[in-house]
This record gives sequence, C-alpha cells and structure tokens, in this order.
Amino acid sequence: MRSVVLALAAALCGCSGGAVRAAAPTEAPLLGDAWFTARGTTLGLDAAAARARDAAFSEAEPPGSPPDDQLRTQAAAIWATLCASCHGATGRLENVAATPPDVPLPRAFGGARMAMGFFFGGDKMRAGLYRKIARGAPPTVPPSPMPPWEGTLSREQIWALVAHIESL
Ligand code: HEC
Repeated sequence: MRSVVLALAAALCGCSGGAVRAAAPTEAPLLGDAWFTARGTTLGLDAAAARARDAAFSEAEPPGSPPDDQLRTQAAAIWATLCASCHGATGRLENVAATPPDVPLPRAFGGARMAMGFFFGGDKMRAGLYRKIARGAPPTVPPSPMPPWEGTLSREQIWALVAHIESL
C-alpha cells in the first residue's frame, strides 16, 4: 500500500526516486509545416486543413478556449529554445547576456505589474503581447532586437505563448 501511495505521489509531483525531474520541455518546437502536420494529427485534420483552421483565428482576441496540452507543451518548448535567451527561462531576464547600453531590454515578465496589466487590461493586453510577438518591435533607433515570429509560428502557437507569459 505504502509503495502505491509513493508511486502515485511520485507520478503526481513528477519526481522519481527522490530526484526532482527538471521542468524542461520534452518536446522540440515544431515550426511551420511540422507544426501543422502535428496539430492536424491531434485534431484529425490534414496539414492543409490545420493551416486553414489556424488562419481563421483572430489576431485581435484570444481563442475562446485556453490552450490544450499540445499547445501548452509547445509554448514551453518554444519559450525555452527561441525566447529564453533574451527573456530568461522564467521571463525575468535571468541569465540574459548583457547587451550594449543603448539596446533595449525586454521588461521582466511575471511581476505584480504584469499581473495588474492582465487584470485590468484583459484581452486588450493579451492582444498587445500577441502583436509584439507576431510583428516584432516597431522600428526604433537603435533597433530593438525583438524579432517578428509570424510565419515561423502559427497564430495558435503565438496565443499559447501569450498564455505562457501570463502564467510566468
Ligand atoms: C534577440 C532577443 C529576443 C528574442 C529571441 C525574443 N525577444 Fe521578445 N523582446 C526582446 C526585447 C529587447 C523586447 C523589448 C523591446 C520592445 O518591446 O521593443 C521584447 C519584447 C517582447 C514582448 C513585449 C513585452 C512588453 O513589454 O509588452 C513580448 C510579448 C515578447 N518579447 C515575447 C517574446 C517571445 C514569445 C519570444 C520567442 C518566440 C521572444 N520574445 C524572443 C528581445 C527578444
């Protein structure tokens, strides 16, 4: 009985034998066609239909339902591989390489001010983050290093990243 309880506890907390498993995403980011093929497999669609479905998502407000498991896993994998180098693993600029003094840094995510922004800004705030991720930073002098991701990431992936940022 005791071992069953321990096994259950280990499964629930994601640890085994006392060693804590790192929360690292287990999936690689799926970009472009690879994403639409994988998403289609999950949804029972071919890649073209998955792409058309994605194009139907609004860019002005988040999808009606929160990201499912596949999207959440993807957002974590994308964040870790494509975003964390500039934003930090938890969005708080931890271990972000120093940039020249005139290059803009991202603001830290996850603080009380962000939480207030989501609380009062709601979907308007989410849409602002979506736009920044999709289109990158507007041209400034000196240029901001925030790249545009539309084309590389699907709309659904970008909305999942907005939800990921909100969860940081
Ligand atoms: C090469 C560095 C770099 C990478 C890679 C990068 N960012 Fe950024 N990001 C920035 C900088 C710098 C800013 C702030 C500049 C600005 O907003 O003009 C920023 C701003 C943002 C903002 C707007 C935040 C706000 O304050 O409103 C969001 C959202 C964001 N990034 C998400 C992402 C996501 C998601 C990824 C990965 C898919 C990513 N970034 C990858 C450098 C980067």
